[in-house]
Amino acid sequence: MKVLLIGSGGREHALAWKLAASPLLTKLYAAPGNPGIAREAEIVALDTDDHASVADFCRANSIDLVVVGPEAPLVAGLADVLRAEGIRVFGPSKAAARLEGSKGFTKELCARFGIPTAAFGRFAGAAAAIAYIREQGAPIVVKADGLAAGKGVTVAMTIEEAVAAVEACFAGAFGGAGAEVVVEEFMEGEEASFFCLCDGTTALPFGTAQDHKRVGDGDTGPNTGGMGAYSPAPVMSADMVARTMREIVEPTMRGMAELGSPFAGVLFAGLMITADGPKLIEYNTRFGDPECQVLMMRLKDDLLVLLTAAADGQLAHSSARWRDDAALTVVLAARGYPGTPQKGSEIRKLDGVPDGVEVFHAGTALRDGRLVANGGRVLNVTATGKTVTEAQACAYAGVDAIDWPEGFCRRDIGARAVERERVSAA
Ligand code: AMP
Ligand code: GLY
Repeated sequence: MKVLLIGSGGREHALAWKLAASPLLTKLYAAPGNPGIAREAEIVALDTDDHASVADFCRANSIDLVVVGPEAPLVAGLADVLRAEGIRVFGPSKAAARLEGSKGFTKELCARFGIPTAAFGRFAGAAAAIAYIREQGAPIVVKADGLAAGKGVTVAMTIEEAVAAVEACFAGAFGGAGAEVVVEEFMEGEEASFFCLCDGTTALPFGTAQDHKRVGDGDTGPNTGGMGAYSPAPVMSADMVARTMREIVEPTMRGMAELGSPFAGVLFAGLMITADGPKLIEYNTRFGDPECQVLMMRLKDDLLVLLTAAADGQLAHSSARWRDDAALTVVLAARGYPGTPQKGSEIRKLDGVPDGVEVFHAGTALRDGRLVANGGRVLNVTATGKTVTEAQACAYAGVDAIDWPEGFCRRDIGARAVERERVSAA
């Protein structure tokens, strides 16, 4: 099979790495790609915002499957254009990608189909939002409605903080994404990322992970796209997965079909495991980054077979098997992230990492034959182990082998699971 992979981050490098392991793959193309992806795929200079030119490329090169990594092209309708041309694509339609593209849409869906989530109000103006906040009290959560690269959410511990967040939103801090705000109940519990492959009708559970969203050790500092992850997530026991499927994912699949926009692609549920059970924080309509990196390290089955089955509506006949090992990834970021990262510093000794460590590239570039930082999150140093403790030790040995003084990482990825393992071993 000939495959075109869209995207340029660590998530797409992990997908490329796993797709390249498929015996069915004859040729992998990637656009726009990055220097890590270039080890697995031929990079093609395609403007992925120009959907017609992507379709032209697919026809000219007899592409059998397009895999769309990031959310922006999905929300912009790339999958619809390709499908209309008869090109097989893994990724939701524009209408189905509203599950990620509009928080308000998802909240309405939850209300209509009885899906547990935080109580909320949706507002197109500051005055009404602020009145609602004063009525509800703090802590309370304020979110820009649209896509804001994970930065549109304020978990406010005081009413003043929440009011300031509403004012910033309507003052244009998140551009068009902040034209509406969602104000919601603060939920307490442990967070987990839960993934399903979906084909419009069937949802196949596809792994769990725990992300680390804050930039600093001990969950301090601003939110980021994710500074590290491990899989599986200990809170997602078989019972909790079954409950999440029954109470959250399956009603979502039925609801989307009923609304005329069946969901096909990856459904990524951000969950809060509360005292009352799993509640939906938000949906994403693509793999998590860096959660995908740890899932790919644990997946035993052929990713290409599974994504093709999802694209063809054949998941009812599929299963996914996982290695028992834990996987853990540490994000190396450029100084300045999640603000303005410093670009251009050289990264050395990537080949010095211990055996078994995979270094996925995110924001890297080649300049005159040298590998340099070219984004906020730059590398994902990923390892497996019999326990999270082992995977963590191996991943940080990888981090320490890399020579990049201008980079930084959190030193406590997996710490909660490591502590659990220590207590249960004692
Ligand atoms: P989101 O971009 O919606 O995933 O939100 C970013 C982070 O904010 C989440 O990972 C949670 O840690 C936190 N968060 C979002 N919504 C809530 C909520 N209703 N209650 C508590 N924390 C939340
Ligand atoms: N790591 C969280 C995300 O991909 O949205």
